[in-house]
Amino acid sequence: MARVPVIAGNWKMYKTIGDSVDFIKKLIPLVETSQPKVYLAVPFTALKAAADAAKGSKVVIGAQNMNDATEGAFTGEIAGKMLVDAGAQFVILGHSERRQLFKETNEIINKKIKRALSVKLQPILCVGETLQERENGKMEEVLQEQLSKSLDGILSAQLTTMIIAYEPVWAIGTGKTSTPEDAQAMHHFCREFIAKTWGKETADQIIIQYGGSVKPENVKSLMEQPDIDGVLVGGASLSLESFVKIVNYSSD
Ligand code: PGA
Repeated sequence: MARVPVIAGNWKMYKTIGDSVDFIKKLIPLVETSQPKVYLAVPFTALKAAADAAKGSKVVIGAQNMNDATEGAFTGEIAGKMLVDAGAQFVILGHSERRQLFKETNEIINKKIKRALSVKLQPILCVGETLQERENGKMEEVLQEQLSKSLDGILSAQLTTMIIAYEPVWAIGTGKTSTPEDAQAMHHFCREFIAKTWGKETADQIIIQYGGSVKPENVKSLMEQPDIDGVLVGGASLSLESFVKIVNYSSD
């Protein structure tokens, strides 16, 4: 079964409700016939309006984080079922900014993934090494640990509904991108690890995205790699023009 690529924008802490709706209304006709699936992870406050604006189109709206509990006295937190209620269909979990700035561990991310799956939200699990880990030659070790701990107890049938995003931390928001060959090698490593742990069929089905300074200029060479099934785009997803170019990379 061929893997349908997924191109996702991660707006991080940018855009008001008005900006989001305006962007989505303009985006819809420009990506209608594109081959990849189109996802947008918007701020919590814009979720409902974004999901309403995207209704009936190919644009899929999701969130950037959630709490692992069903509900409770957790001031300021948001539960998975609230995201679903607001119209989210997916959620980014374990982004390196969450890991580094908000001290999220693989164990917490594992709980979040399980909760997301239980409310039928599709998790996008982010993994990736820091510059120091890369310089010490620890990339594979780090990826293996992140994958095995974050995905502990996840069944094959659940894993195939998820997306993995390989995002080397040193490439996020820095303008530095992996070379396509290097990104391919890391993606291949992730897929092989999944094959060893959950079986080849699962590994063949799962979407593995690349993230880290993806731009209209480099998306094609990344997407041509056999194990790269999509991209997770931060900065370049904030501009309609560059995001549309990225989604429609193959028609350039
Ligand atoms: P970037 O961010 O494209 O701005 O490097 C990617 C991400 O954080 O997912």
